[in-house]
Amino acid sequence: MPTAEKIPRLVSPMSTLTRAGRSKDFAIFTNKLDYVNQRNHEEPSHITRNMEDVESLKRNAGIAACKFVKNNMKVGLGTGSTVKHTVIELGRMIKDDGLEIVGVPTSLATEKLALEVGIPLVELSEVDYLDIVIDGADEFDPSFQLIKGGGAALLREKIVAQESRAMVVVADERKRVSKLGAFPLPIEITPFAYESTIRKLTKLLDCRVNCRMSGDNPVVTDNGNLIADAHCGPTIEDPNKVESEVLMIAGVVQVGLFNDMCDVVILAGNNGVEEIINPNGRL
Ligand code: 5RP
Repeated sequence: MPTAEKIPRLVSPMSTLTRAGRSKDFAIFTNKLDYVNQRNHEEPSHITRNMEDVESLKRNAGIAACKFVKNNMKVGLGTGSTVKHTVIELGRMIKDDGLEIVGVPTSLATEKLALEVGIPLVELSEVDYLDIVIDGADEFDPSFQLIKGGGAALLREKIVAQESRAMVVVADERKRVSKLGAFPLPIEITPFAYESTIRKLTKLLDCRVNCRMSGDNPVVTDNGNLIADAHCGPTIEDPNKVESEVLMIAGVVQVGLFNDMCDVVILAGNNGVEEIINPNGRL
């Protein structure tokens, strides 16, 4: 069993949260880059490490995914540094090409960006379903199962994906894995009794689980919750089993395993953009 990690103590966490789920004392969002740099696995040698290259791969994937968006669609707008390029391109298509869509953002950050680039937004509750969601991923495996939540938006992302008739994932080649788990599995948990929840997760997953921090403060999600990161290693054989076991723990709000949701991965690599269609998917 892994030894218990020192868990930061929150002083009356709920009293520091405002009704909107924001906190005066807590960081709202993690620095994704710092976090990704803590990845506990070696990247394969063929994978580019140059940040400019990575940024252009993200851009290529993000823009290529826009071909799935047609007039009058209701579109889920994911969160992260890859799908950001999709959102910007959709804004351009609205302005320059007369594209008519409405969007549902998966985070406050995406909401802000979407409004800046001129995408009309609606509440998820105002529509019966979404035609499509385009989102990033931290890992995807050969069965199109995903780890998401590196940007702490997994709860809203999963709710939006669940309401969507198709899911397009935008990624660069670093995200393709043979088995999930090298990227620490993000789990959204309640601030209440979060130390106990982390202890339970440590026992269940038999690995180090830590509360995601931004400097000295726990990261607080858009929903006022915390993120536990489980350092499973590339060992997740059965993502459906792990998902249901993790969800059994009362303090868990949601887990960043997106199983049987992804229909296509738009994957940017050094040799161009590849469209990997899920043979069991909806597209
Ligand atoms: C946010 C997510 C992101 O989609 C995921 O972390 C990928 O982000 P990026 O494109 O920045 O690597 O799940 O919660």
